[in-house]
Amino acid sequence: MKLKMMYSFLNTDIAIIEKELEATIQAEHPLLRQAGLHLLQAGGKRIRPVFVLLAGKFGEYNIDNIKNVAVALELIHMASLVHDDVIDDADLRRGKPTIKAKWNNKIAIYTGDYIFARSLELMTRVDRVDAHKILSQALVELNIGEIEQIKDKYDFNQNLRCYLRRIKRKTALLIAVSCQLGAIASDVPSEVHRKLYLFGYYVGMAFQITDDILDFTATEQQLGKPAGSDLLQGNVTLPVLYALQDPVLSQEIIKVSETTTHEEIQPLINLIKNSSAIKKSTEISNRYLDKAFDVLSELPVNRARNTLYNIAKFIGKRKF
Ligand code: IPE
Ligand code: IPE
Ligand code: MG
Ligand code: MG
Repeated sequence: MKLKMMYSFLNTDIAIIEKELEATIQAEHPLLRQAGLHLLQAGGKRIRPVFVLLAGKFGEYNIDNIKNVAVALELIHMASLVHDDVIDDADLRRGKPTIKAKWNNKIAIYTGDYIFARSLELMTRVDRVDAHKILSQALVELNIGEIEQIKDKYDFNQNLRCYLRRIKRKTALLIAVSCQLGAIASDVPSEVHRKLYLFGYYVGMAFQITDDILDFTATEQQLGKPAGSDLLQGNVTLPVLYALQDPVLSQEIIKVSETTTHEEIQPLINLIKNSSAIKKSTEISNRYLDKAFDVLSELPVNRARNTLYNIAKFIGKRKF
């Protein structure tokens, strides 16, 4: 089943979110407006707003209220992508030129800041101090995750724990918080919104591990963003950590440095792609998904729970 089909019963509300996203990003300054709309209209899976809405279905769901959280979370995600593409020097995002490629790094930094500020403005409509605390703590961690990633570059001695901590910060926490804040906005009791947080965390871990696998196995066309660039940039992801356990592959991997070229690294990427490192990485992703399913089984039975289950299953198999 296609991702969008899984939550088609939310279509009316998703359309509201899309409209709000567009309205929120409108800036008086033409450049900020164009750059923001450029990324927004390029598409994207909108997985975070979907998690917000689905988690909201566990309580007193009110779209006028919850839409603020859903839009804010997508905007925070978008702002982090705009900045990430500067850091990763990426020219393609959502199948379109990145803001840094179409304009430049400086414009991208300010556009990211602008989108981020807009998200905070929206969040002020959410009348729950706990929601603001949870979100700001996650944002602090997200930034630590991104900076750790720079620090850990080309460090082929790092261990699995280091990798897992990094992806928790840079990806899983924002997905966890999407689930939790959607629930809080619907006044879901704390024992339930804590479980939704945990579900989001496990799914988020699997989501980033899958992303790191796809960097080896998928094409730029499938992903709408550059493939095969993590290792070249010194980003030691899970497939690389497993490949390092193989003495032959390891010998090649430790030679990778800032001067390695795109052409030089292709044979190594192919070797890793065809090695057991991919299967081992998938197993770890599946372990996180199993934990997510366990948490779900403790939640009240409803349509949203069923949909969360299907989305989690999709994430384990996604090709884009
Ligand atoms: C990309 O996120 C960054 C990661 C956390 C892997 P998404 O894969 O959700 O990106 P879009 O929003 O669909 O473009
Ligand atoms: C994920 O980082 C993006 C953020 C959490 C900001 P990546 O660099 O791994 O993501 P992609 O591959 O560019 O989407
Ligand atoms: Mg990055
Ligand atoms: Mg990137």
